Amino acid sequence: MTAIRSVVLGCGSYLPQKVLTNAELAARIDTSDDWIVQRTGIRQRHIAADDEFTSHLGINAARAALADAGVDAQSIDLIVVATSTPDNTFPATAVAIQNGLGINHGAAFDLQAVCSGFIFALATADNFLRSGAYKRALVIGAETFSRILDWEDRTTCVLFGDGAGAVVLDAQEQSGGTADRGILTTHLRSDGRHKSKLYVDGGPGSTRTVGHLRMEGKEVFKHAVGMITDVIIDAFKATGTSADDLDWFIPHQANKRIIDASAHKLHIAPQKVVLTVDMHGNTSAASIPLALCVAVRDGRVKKGDLVMLEAMGGGFTWGSALVRW
Ligand code: UT7
Repeated sequence: MTAIRSVVLGCGSYLPQKVLTNAELAARIDTSDDWIVQRTGIRQRHIAADDEFTSHLGINAARAALADAGVDAQSIDLIVVATSTPDNTFPATAVAIQNGLGINHGAAFDLQAVCSGFIFALATADNFLRSGAYKRALVIGAETFSRILDWEDRTTCVLFGDGAGAVVLDAQEQSGGTADRGILTTHLRSDGRHKSKLYVDGGPGSTRTVGHLRMEGKEVFKHAVGMITDVIIDAFKATGTSADDLDWFIPHQANKRIIDASAHKLHIAPQKVVLTVDMHGNTSAASIPLALCVAVRDGRVKKGDLVMLEAMGGGFTWGSALVRW
């Protein structure tokens, strides 16, 4: 029995030039490099320039992904952009990216699942490709979280950064087994009972302002490991695979302690875990494709490798995607 799979043809990323270190933050607010590193693993984050918007980051990441895939922008007929920091309330940042890439056919839309956005976008594009509705997709995670941070609130402002990452997915007929290349399974979950634990205190429909990010960090932390491991176990069950079969674990990069605890609980060997939270901070929907690109560029992730992606974030939302590279 054959199946259409969404095969990753290439990936690309973009980080704004400005780097903000923990030491620079400690000079501004009551925090320290020690506290940030010990509690989160973060050492620095990138911050977008004033005239650099989420769409600009996304266009740069998309161009890099197209170049890596060796395909023309005109072959893309679907663009899904995961972001919680759109350029404007509307139109979608995806259409700004589509326009920036010179594409005016197919469909482009935004998707909002906060830090889980890339997994939700990947699953959405995968379903469209497998249904035959579209042939080749750009899936982008792009964020300028620096714009929605309260820079006086040390409990949140030290955690996040800006950036973008993208992958090109191509619908290809495969055998239908787990040896196939491409997305093998995705699992998405949400539970709105937790919506006030990580949120932005503004919006067009409520305050008519943009608002600032607010988080009960301990509460998020408390739920994170269980939720993450649940959807990864779902992916293992759906494909008959196990932690031993994984070549790489590329989690959402929010906190090294959450990542370590999740890998430990799932018996995933530490050397299979890709960590970039030290360099990028938490870039929300951009964190997974940014980490993926680092591991592809440095030669860790190779064709045929089995890669587990996962994320958990505001909503709460959480999800996993098992991909053969
Ligand atoms: O991507 C979406 C998902 N988000 C996450 O995964 C975030 C999940 N949460 C976390 O990563 C952690 O809860 C944090 C890193 C946010 C906080 O770590 P924690 O170990 O839970 O610390 P805490 O909130 O319990 O704070 C411990 C202490 C407090 O002081 P007291 O009350 O013990 O005196 C805080 O006021 O650390 C203090 N604190 C800080 N100290 C120095 C909080 N933020 C800072 C700071 N610098 N930046």
